[in-house]
Amino acid sequence: MSADLLDPVVFLSVNGVAEWLPLSEARLPVLDRGFIFGDGIYEVVPVYGRVPFRMDHHLARLARSLGAVGITNPFDNAGWKARIFELIDGFADDNQMVYIQVTRGVAKRGHAFPADTQPTVFMMNNPLVLPTAALRADGAAVVSATDNRWLRCDIKSVSLLGNVLMAQHAAEQGAAETIMFRDGNLTEGSSSNIWVVRDGVLLAPVRDHRILEGIRYSLMAELAESVGIAFTARAISEAEVRAADELLLTSATKEVIPITRLDGQPVGDGRPGPVYARLYAAYQRAKEQSRAQFAR
Ligand code: PDD
Repeated sequence: MSADLLDPVVFLSVNGVAEWLPLSEARLPVLDRGFIFGDGIYEVVPVYGRVPFRMDHHLARLARSLGAVGITNPFDNAGWKARIFELIDGFADDNQMVYIQVTRGVAKRGHAFPADTQPTVFMMNNPLVLPTAALRADGAAVVSATDNRWLRCDIKSVSLLGNVLMAQHAAEQGAAETIMFRDGNLTEGSSSNIWVVRDGVLLAPVRDHRILEGIRYSLMAELAESVGIAFTARAISEAEVRAADELLLTSATKEVIPITRLDGQPVGDGRPGPVYARLYAAYQRAKEQSRAQFAR
């Protein structure tokens, strides 16, 4: 496979025909239900030093998302891993983000599930561009909005229009992210989970249909425990968010970053806080451990 950064080799399986080919040559029939209905799910897996980070967690969530929408999982875990490693090995950068998308497949347009359709599978990688040292030192500015998305946010669906509009809301105000409130309580960011620190305790919204359970959700809980920070999952009111000592944001590509401004107001003292610093350090240690444990 070529190691061309601009035109990397990707995996595409349409109607049961699988191919490895340059991204620029990958083609989909327009009747793919991912295109027509947003009828599919996806994953984003960070890769450090050619080792996927928490891959089993990502594959478990992929299987959960597929099960929730009634798409047959096209591969078992060994099959996914073989293809993910092939993709990683064909890419120039050591640090990558692997994108995986599975749709219900290609069929004549009609809302209900078609019979005898094979899932479409697409996998590509990009360089993993981590937050800059300047962003980690200054923290991110975010804005807020009312969460008006559907009520199955626990499914990692490619139907992301609600999230796209929230991300655009932030972009138009020069902010890094929009954090959302539903019925007066914190849900999540447009493409991230949000964490609140009050009196030294790390808080997160409960894992239910209102948020996507990030792979970093259980990771942060583990990291907090490992460094002696109490963690509680519960409903968090908008007032509590606005009065937080610290706010944090996590995602596969952002890792963990501090939020230092919300709707133009400083968060806490307006500087990244001590709980962030300890969790960031613990996150970096977890990456190193994973690279050592799963080195190929
Ligand atoms: N998004 N919530 C939403 C709505 C997300 O889109 C994401 C991640 C997360 C965090 O999940 P994780 O820790 O597994 O990355 C929470 C990815 C990165 C994306 O859409 O690109």
